[in-house]
Amino acid sequence: VFNALGDAAINVRAIAQGASERNISLVVDSKVAAKALRAVHAAFYLSPNTLSIGLIGPGTVGRVLLEQIGSQVERLKSLNLDLRVRGIATSKRMLLAQTAIDLDEWPRLLEENGEPVDLEKFAAHCQADYIPHTAIIDCTASPEVAAHYREWLARGIHVVTPNKKANSGALPDYRALKEAARAAGTHYLYEATVGAGLPVIHTLRDLRETGDDITHIEGIFSGTLAYLFNVFDGTESFSSIVYKAKQKGFTEPDPRDDLSGMDVARKLIILGREMGLTLEMSDVEVKGLVPEALDGCSLEEFMRRLPEFDATMAEQLADAKRSGQVLRYVGRVDAQGKATVGLTRLDAKHAFANLALTDNVVRYVTRRYCDNPLIVQGPGAGPEVTAGGVFSDLLRLSAYLGAHL
Ligand SMILES: NC(=O)c1ccc[n+]([C@@H]2O[C@H](COP(=O)([O-])OP(=O)(O)OC[C@H]3O[C@@H](n4cnc5c(N)ncnc54)[C@H](OP(=O)(O)O)[C@@H]3O)[C@@H](O)[C@H]2O)c1
Repeated sequence: VFNALGDAAINVRAIAQGASERNISLVVDSKVAAKALRAVHAAFYLSPNTLSIGLIGPGTVGRVLLEQIGSQVERLKSLNLDLRVRGIATSKRMLLAQTAIDLDEWPRLLEENGEPVDLEKFAAHCQADYIPHTAIIDCTASPEVAAHYREWLARGIHVVTPNKKANSGALPDYRALKEAARAAGTHYLYEATVGAGLPVIHTLRDLRETGDDITHIEGIFSGTLAYLFNVFDGTESFSSIVYKAKQKGFTEPDPRDDLSGMDVARKLIILGREMGLTLEMSDVEVKGLVPEALDGCSLEEFMRRLPEFDATMAEQLADAKRSGQVLRYVGRVDAQGKATVGLTRLDAKHAFANLALTDNVVRYVTRRYCDNPLIVQGPGAGPEVTAGGVFSDLLRLSAYLGAHL
């Protein structure tokens, strides 16, 4: 009883044990009486475990996540887990529902019944007095949304996200976030920030928690850069490959966001901090692929002038080929805190040299896995796999809160 109430952050004012061992009385604030009753009922399988969910950012990933949740809601109810999406917010509008939003109809409902977005009101609505647990899922890439996590975690709202901004921001903010979750007993889950649906962060945690020592972690952390260098074999210019990848939607709208290497650096910071390192962005040596002359210009000028740098890229490739090597964009962080991101020459037989087009690969070299390192590999981007990674974090959260799946 008291574990269930504690997990739902309900304060117990007084208790009295009855004469029978089957009887116990307790006093809680009347405002949270319904929530307390549901939490206790759920703990004893008398009603489902209910989670009030707010999703911010129904874009490429968020939209698919809503579909995935919608397709599993009935099955999960039969397993005593009731996932209720009660709020959906974009950068402009939000839709709030008392019971649950119909996930087949949300775009129309948002259009017809939405109101101007107000994240304070959104969080307060999602954290209903009568539902034991609340989770906010942030599927934006926004630092402004990430800036709310600390307050949400402190007030009892669990946070699940594929957004890298909070974990790769300033170290004191990151620590404050973790401390807020620890102090409030809330959960902060972000597996999809690195490698999308691949179990990259969990694998690292499992290694550390079972007493292994990480020597270093390295890998290809960007599906876009993996693709560019898998295709760049000398038969086509680098700029033409970038141009076609942009047309196919494989790159960010501005390919410099991929080519700068900053996205890879953010992922490395997240892994480094997970290893216990006190890394800041400024500690990562990033060798980006955006020519200095094209750094600050317009997107149109960047695309037009990129061919000017084809000769340099072709030379690097030819040089590597002469030594039986390939070019790959690799991130690496070691136990001493050295973190590097940049173009690397690797033997053509190296594990990173033979990946499927947009695969990510992460190689953990540890005390246990030293001669033959542990490798996690597979698609590291795309809405289906990323949403799947966020969804599994949501189910992990439900299990932490007492659901038996
Ligand atoms: N796409 C992938 O394959 C992939 C893989 C791994 C991780 N991720 C991460 O997943 C997250 C989402 O990516 P995505 O590709 O789905 O992005 P996206 O298609 O651009 O969608 C972003 C969503 O966030 C909303 N949004 C932006 N700023 C907001 C704000 N300040 N307040 C409320 N809502 C806001 C947008 O609403 P509006 O429409 O109103 O702007 C949109 O619904 C990002 O953090 C990304 O790094 C994505």
